[in-house]
Amino acid sequence: MTDINWGWKNELYSAKSPREELAYYEKTAKDYEFEFRGMLKYCGPEMCMQTLLDCETQLEFVVPRNCRVLDVGAGTGLSGEALMREGFIGKIDALEPSDNMFSLAQAKGIYSHRYNDLIFPDTETSVPSCSYDLVISIGVFNTRSTTSDCLWEVVRMAKHGGYLSIYFNKLHWDQGCFKERLIELVAAKQIQILSLEYKPYYEENEAVSFVLKKL
Ligand SMILES: C[S@@+](CC[C@H](N)C(=O)[O-])C[C@H]1O[C@@H](n2cnc3c(N)ncnc32)[C@H](O)[C@@H]1O
Repeated sequence: MTDINWGWKNELYSAKSPREELAYYEKTAKDYEFEFRGMLKYCGPEMCMQTLLDCETQLEFVVPRNCRVLDVGAGTGLSGEALMREGFIGKIDALEPSDNMFSLAQAKGIYSHRYNDLIFPDTETSVPSCSYDLVISIGVFNTRSTTSDCLWEVVRMAKHGGYLSIYFNKLHWDQGCFKERLIELVAAKQIQILSLEYKPYYEENEAVSFVLKKL
């Protein structure tokens, strides 16, 4: 049996830019599911879907399950698998910069199209504006690579009247000015915040989970 690389956190957290973080995922892609899913009991994909479901129930709306979905930072496709379990049967596209992560996702046959983009603050990716009914991003935002300044870019990708469901480590929420960016987006009449809560992430760690409506 493969031993878990308990040094993953130091190595990943020492990345200081999107390119350094990409290099980490390129190097460790083959171990990602074993370590995060199997050993660390990472439950982000399921919990993000649960947040969306709860939000739909409480606010009495439904994101059509045959809609166009973009999975930002799709990784090896765990988030895409959770979308499919939740009944999303329309076209699901992926934005994923790591070839090695995406080759594992591609083998699952979930994604129709891949954007091979790395998101940077204040730079547009190749994703067309206002093109997705639902944009999800699970385990991607942090203070190293996809920082809070990148929230504007993922909001740009959603259609007017579309939704975004975003899920990441609460540690980064606390340290990364995410609340301030959401307040700016609300003030700029770009989004409405439909729900925001803390949920389990992996082991004893918590995540922040929010659902936005693009105005
Ligand atoms: C922890 S994995 C999450 C994968 C998947 N969403 C899941 O829940 O299993 C983070 C993914 O985000 C991607 N990523 C990291 N920084 C990024 C950036 N700046 N732009 C786009 N993707 C990024 C990585 O390549 C990696 O595949």
